[in-house]
Amino acid sequence: MVGARPQFVKLAPVHKALSDLGVEHLIVHTGQHYDSKLSDVFFEEFDIPAPVANLAIGSHSHAVQTAKIIESLEPHIVSQKPDWVLCYGDTNSTLACAVVCSKLPFKMAHIEAGLRSKNTFMPEEHNRILTDHCSDLLLAPTDNAMQHLQSEGLSERSYLVGDVMIDVLNTAKESIFSDGRRSEEINTRESQFYLATIHRQENSDIEERLREIIDALSELDLPTYIPSHPRLVKKCKEFDIELNKGSLRSIDPLSYRELVATVMKAEHIITDSGGLQKESFHLGTPCTTVRTETEWVETLTGEWNKLVEPKQITDAISRPHPSTERGFPFGKGDAAANIAKLLLKF
Ligand code: UD1
Repeated sequence: MVGARPQFVKLAPVHKALSDLGVEHLIVHTGQHYDSKLSDVFFEEFDIPAPVANLAIGSHSHAVQTAKIIESLEPHIVSQKPDWVLCYGDTNSTLACAVVCSKLPFKMAHIEAGLRSKNTFMPEEHNRILTDHCSDLLLAPTDNAMQHLQSEGLSERSYLVGDVMIDVLNTAKESIFSDGRRSEEINTRESQFYLATIHRQENSDIEERLREIIDALSELDLPTYIPSHPRLVKKCKEFDIELNKGSLRSIDPLSYRELVATVMKAEHIITDSGGLQKESFHLGTPCTTVRTETEWVETLTGEWNKLVEPKQITDAISRPHPSTERGFPFGKGDAAANIAKLLLKF
């Protein structure tokens, strides 16, 4: 079960690993993300089969979105009678799936279990905790995630498998290495640039904070490309904030390979995305994260990633280039194979 952009990316290697073992893997799309650039493009890029059902839930308040998914998803699970239901990450689609499975005799595995920000103002933090406590099998990406699960009394159902994002990233890196592929728009214009993404509710929904972030990005010393998430575009319109000003250039959301190639070429990443913090770390591009905490604390090693307030963005991106070895805290790219083996075992 998937519903939002990062979940389509995470599903790709799991689908392949299951197919390689001859397991039938059916996909239900909740329709939480419905714009083609946040959804269809990833099914095409990763050659993921079409979902057996698209619940077409779309955008609503958190409660209504979650409730609508719960109601629409249940009959599909009941009729398909799966041996395992897989859910990913921390979105409203994830929580809805966990609630449905916890009240049915079908087992559910949570991929990316055990992440915690300890920030209960984030809707995602509630989704993570509730989903982990409802799941039958907890598939953790890092040692740190395993420790969180242990401290919440969930050790018996928890397994360290590594991070499926590294599987995807390694494959993408091989296919694009040094071929210069970037978003056409960036490719034709600049040799040195920054890449920014902002979409978290804590950053986009408070006018003053969003204005501060956009002002800081527009005053940086290099062109700063911002592939704009629909939430950001919507909020900027609502607050009358200009996204194309100074050094800041708003562009359409990028495909996965375009994003990876762009991260590899960028001087620095400024983001509030979880995935991008890890992608920057793994690819060796310094990252500045506009948040007060991160679930991916491993990326903070040697200041490869730095947490900042909007006012600190300019200073943070001019820090010395990190030189500390990064190691492989997210695994070496075999997470999907580990997951498939565990699912078959149980
Ligand atoms: C969701 C997840 C977040 C994840 C992110 C990835 C929750 C609580 N949040 O945030 O954890 O990091 O996806 O992108 O589930 N919209 C569109 N078109 C779309 C999708 C959304 O226009 O295809 C707009 C709508 O105005 C909507 C807003 O974006 O109200 C927010 O979408 P929503 O699904 O609520 O959450 P995200 O911010 O995308």
